[in-house]
Amino acid sequence: MSFAEKYGPWAVVAGASEGLGAAFAAALAARGVNLLLLARRVNLLERVAQDLRAGHDIEVRTEACDVARADFADALARLTADIEIGLGVYNAAFAPVGEMHTRALDDLLRVIDVNVRAPLVFARTLAPRMVAQGRGGIVLMSSLAGFQGAPRIATYAASKAFNIVLGEGLWAELKPHGVDVLVAAAGAIRTPGYAKAASGDAPGTLDAHVVAEQTLDALGNGPLVVPGGVNRVARFVLGRMLPRRTAIGIFGRSTKDLA
Ligand SMILES: NC(=O)c1ccc[n+]([C@@H]2O[C@H](COP(=O)([O-])OP(=O)(O)OC[C@H]3O[C@@H](n4cnc5c(N)ncnc54)[C@H](OP(=O)(O)O)[C@@H]3O)[C@@H](O)[C@H]2O)c1
Repeated sequence: MSFAEKYGPWAVVAGASEGLGAAFAAALAARGVNLLLLARRVNLLERVAQDLRAGHDIEVRTEACDVARADFADALARLTADIEIGLGVYNAAFAPVGEMHTRALDDLLRVIDVNVRAPLVFARTLAPRMVAQGRGGIVLMSSLAGFQGAPRIATYAASKAFNIVLGEGLWAELKPHGVDVLVAAAGAIRTPGYAKAASGDAPGTLDAHVVAEQTLDALGNGPLVVPGGVNRVARFVLGRMLPRRTAIGIFGRSTKDLA
């Protein structure tokens, strides 16, 4: 069975206007899947969509959508009502940098809205239809930051831990129904979001299209993928070999210069 037969005819990508989300859209277009692309900046979304329509024989829809809104579940249900969704990729994220006691509480709560509440809403809205179809896939984007505490991005890291544990549980729940759930715990990725925060490439930094391809290739082999060999070694050493306090300290070296 081809990828499109298993996870098509439509995929919805939340957070697709640039960076990794746009790379997911391109990788899915190349696999012959029609796309519903969501983000707030619809002009950027439309630019992504135009390139994909020109290069592939697929349909691409774009919709301005703020996943942090209280009515996200209703919006997603409405936007997907007339299409058969075989795959949902939750990629959107909010990652304010700085010690928690210095950040506005509203910013920290927004991390919960975008990185915790919205992926839960996303999965809860799409899963019943996939279960009824007896097939489908859900990808939740997480991070190496989600495996241990991470100073200066503590709330973001905690939100990514939520996605790891949620995705693992959903993987076990939905597998018997023919629905594949996968959490992608990425290391640094060359994206506009990362470029704004970091002064250069961290060890193991990958291009967005590499992360998208490795993640989509791992669908069906869940619950977790860590794209990139260097990142898999880092995950093993930090997560399995070192005491947690040491792992937090080492991870903190990679977050101390983020702006
Ligand atoms: N970049 C890295 O180094 C790295 C490392 C590990 C994990 N990750 C994870 O990989 C994913 C993508 O990272 P990235 O660097 O590509 O992120 P990014 O450059 O910040 O892009 C995030 C995307 O999400 C959208 N988005 C953000 N807030 C949204 C909202 N409230 N409603 C709808 N869309 C929203 C943005 O579009 P609009 O602004 O147009 O809405 C954009 O398309 C994230 O889940 C991130 O946590 C990234």
